[in-house]
Amino acid sequence: MGKDVIIACDFAGKEEALTFLDKFTEEKPYVKIGMELFYAEGPAIVREIKARGHQIFLDLKLHDIPNTVKSAMAVLSRLDVDMCNLHTAGTAAMMTAALEGLTRPDGSRPLLIGVTQLTSTSEERMRKELLIDHPLDQVVMAYAKNAADSGLDGVVCSPLEAAKVHEVCGKSFLTVTPGVRFADGDVGDQVRVTTPARAKEIGSDYIVVGRPITRAEDPVAAYRRCVSEFVG
Ligand code: C5P
Repeated sequence: MGKDVIIACDFAGKEEALTFLDKFTEEKPYVKIGMELFYAEGPAIVREIKARGHQIFLDLKLHDIPNTVKSAMAVLSRLDVDMCNLHTAGTAAMMTAALEGLTRPDGSRPLLIGVTQLTSTSEERMRKELLIDHPLDQVVMAYAKNAADSGLDGVVCSPLEAAKVHEVCGKSFLTVTPGVRFADGDVGDQVRVTTPARAKEIGSDYIVVGRPITRAEDPVAAYRRCVSEFVG
């Protein structure tokens, strides 16, 4: 599986998203469609971007009882997305049900990626509000291992955790890593950031890059810079 740069298309609606993608006349970047765009425009926006030739990571982070997640995943697999995700906190029963729902009659399916603990959850909140008494990094690795054992293809994690995830879950278990910034760029609200070049060294399989590309003066040039630093 090749390394790739996924652009986070965090736009409020179709116009903005398509105007942005229109700038790419020579390449068809892998794009991430998140809750904002999906809830605004529905499945039609996925079909439209797919029809334009882009690969799609549909980032809806499913988390419900196994049967509900299984049925929802069946719908997503028919949307022909390339990657989708769920919360590993839903436990192994939910993850295996998700895989059953996702698998198409010919045996193919989109990649299924797990979210462990959101990066917005601090160790203190985890302890006080979720009553989880282990160090955050141990919790992340235990959830990642549970995802791997359940048959998932990888996890979303900080690029800084990618090497450890590969150690615990195996080299072929994918790490999809947001929190990427250029060395000379704005950090914005991200806290633990890494450059595309460093993410490559640490072993990320996919980097998810939003604002450094979407808000760049020249998004195509910014995308190409990411690709050349990360993919080489
Ligand atoms: O604009 P920026 O590069 O920060 O965008 C990163 C993308 O990755 C956003 O869509 C954000 O929601 C997502 N993400 C993240 N951190 C996580 C999980 C997802 O930044 N832990």
